[in-house]
Amino acid sequence: MTIDAPAHPLSTVAAEAARRRTFAIISHPDAGKTTLTEKLLLYGGAVGEAGTVGAGNGRRAATSDWMEIERRRGISVTSTVLRFEHGDTVLNLLDTPGHRDFSEDTLRVLAAADCAVMLLDAAKGVERQTLRLFEVARARRIPLITFVNKYDKPGMDPLAMLDHIEQVLDLAPYPITWPVGIPGDFRGVVDRRDGAFHRFTRTARGATRAGDEVLTADEAREREGDAWTVAEEELELLDAVTGDLDLEAYATGAATPVFFGSAVSNFGVGLLLDALLELAPSAQPRPTVDGPQRDLDAPFAGFVFKVQANMDRRHRDRVAFLRVCSGRFERGMKAVNARTGRPFTMAYAHEVFGDERASIDEAFPGDVVGVVNAAELRVGDTLYAGDPARFPPIPSLAPEHFVTVSNLDTTRRKHFQRGLDQLAEEGVIHLLRRDPVADPTPILAGVGPLQFEVAVERLRTEFGVPVRVDHANWSHARRTDAAGAEVVRTSRWAELVYRSDGMLLALFAGDFALDRFERDHPDVLLDRLLDR
Ligand code: G4P
Repeated sequence: MTIDAPAHPLSTVAAEAARRRTFAIISHPDAGKTTLTEKLLLYGGAVGEAGTVGAGNGRRAATSDWMEIERRRGISVTSTVLRFEHGDTVLNLLDTPGHRDFSEDTLRVLAAADCAVMLLDAAKGVERQTLRLFEVARARRIPLITFVNKYDKPGMDPLAMLDHIEQVLDLAPYPITWPVGIPGDFRGVVDRRDGAFHRFTRTARGATRAGDEVLTADEAREREGDAWTVAEEELELLDAVTGDLDLEAYATGAATPVFFGSAVSNFGVGLLLDALLELAPSAQPRPTVDGPQRDLDAPFAGFVFKVQANMDRRHRDRVAFLRVCSGRFERGMKAVNARTGRPFTMAYAHEVFGDERASIDEAFPGDVVGVVNAAELRVGDTLYAGDPARFPPIPSLAPEHFVTVSNLDTTRRKHFQRGLDQLAEEGVIHLLRRDPVADPTPILAGVGPLQFEVAVERLRTEFGVPVRVDHANWSHARRTDAAGAEVVRTSRWAELVYRSDGMLLALFAGDFALDRFERDHPDVLLDRLLDR
């Protein structure tokens, strides 16, 4: 079906899209993502004083931590959207959980981002989780801007860091700023674009903006002595071996501009923010599944990349995060859900800033809108007005952990079922069954065991269902088709299960079983990516 889209001057949509920057930060836990996020908000003018990471004693906690489980474990479980304006630019920072068990959530967020900041610890470089997320970003070929953090502490020297990035990620680093002084004795950075030296000053826990002291080369030589001479030599070397930043390679995620700094002391954050304004791409026309790409000034279309229940404890609700891809979104507008073909009215749409919300009246390509009480929306759904469109499904990682789950309160059978369905629709876990009728014992699958902890907690608190989970022995899941299912059914190395949306999956207990099956049945479809 189609719904008429309101007519708007095309130029407004294109101009609004052009001033948006929608990005995510990818990093390993502890590299400083929460700190950098707060400092970007501080520099972007969104908050007057940066909150303190892990704050207690009445200090404000980081804006994006809100679930009980997050507080208990001190990790960020869910993704939220932080939107702020800086000058004439609207920045949408999509927050991603750092813990590897929530990589799927990050994958979905990256599907909605136009670029990512890759945050590295100066001492540790590319860590396991950075690598994993980097691979996701690379698969989407989105541009990456690298920020080497914690330069105030001992760490790798900058040339070694560049080498490391190139070796480990096969990504061409292009330093835009260059550190003066060694990690631990950090004096500041040279902006290679204009040669200015930005001198490092500490602020009290970095709660306010660092005074940016900018010196000329002569002044810097006098102040910093040998440290400056070393940096000058390194810069000469760099100028000789690197040309200009290859913008084409950057645009496809093959080269990355690099910045050095210390988020906790605010240093280098202003330069990074400027880079986001200058280098991060604005929304681009998006490919669709069976039609041409959706132009920015086509009628409204967007896709759901995240569904989150219970964001507001006072009102039980369910928020679907919608990334706008074309046209103008207006509160109360009607759109069609491409999956169901049914109309959907977005009466309650919100701009979400951490756990705070404000009603939003309009949004443009690049923006993220939280649609409230959107019971029928699922991750991956496309909503459109005017010409139909369907955006490609969001890939989902192959689960590596499995449990069976039993309801301990038989009077709450319906709640148990509803809870499981909802968690599956939100993408908290994959819900599997051996046979929907003959053996309906629910099996939960995920990338990491913390996902099950979230599921159990939510079944208990939101649906009032106490459950028991038991470890199950599988370690791999692959999508298959009807022909593959017949083979899987008769194999001793694999087991066939149905995902709640009908997808057929083969489960394997260990590498050996998977290898063996693949060897015996090379023609059977076994796909790692289980699209949502
Ligand atoms: P995450 O979200 O990536 O997990 O990292 P987070 O910002 O929570 O930072 C992890 C730790 O690293 C924090 O220390 C934080 O203060 C510190 N940190 C962040 N940026 C820098 C930096 O530029 N330099 C230095 N030296 N440290 C930095 P913590 O001890 O865990 O907490 P806190 O007691 O400092 O609050």
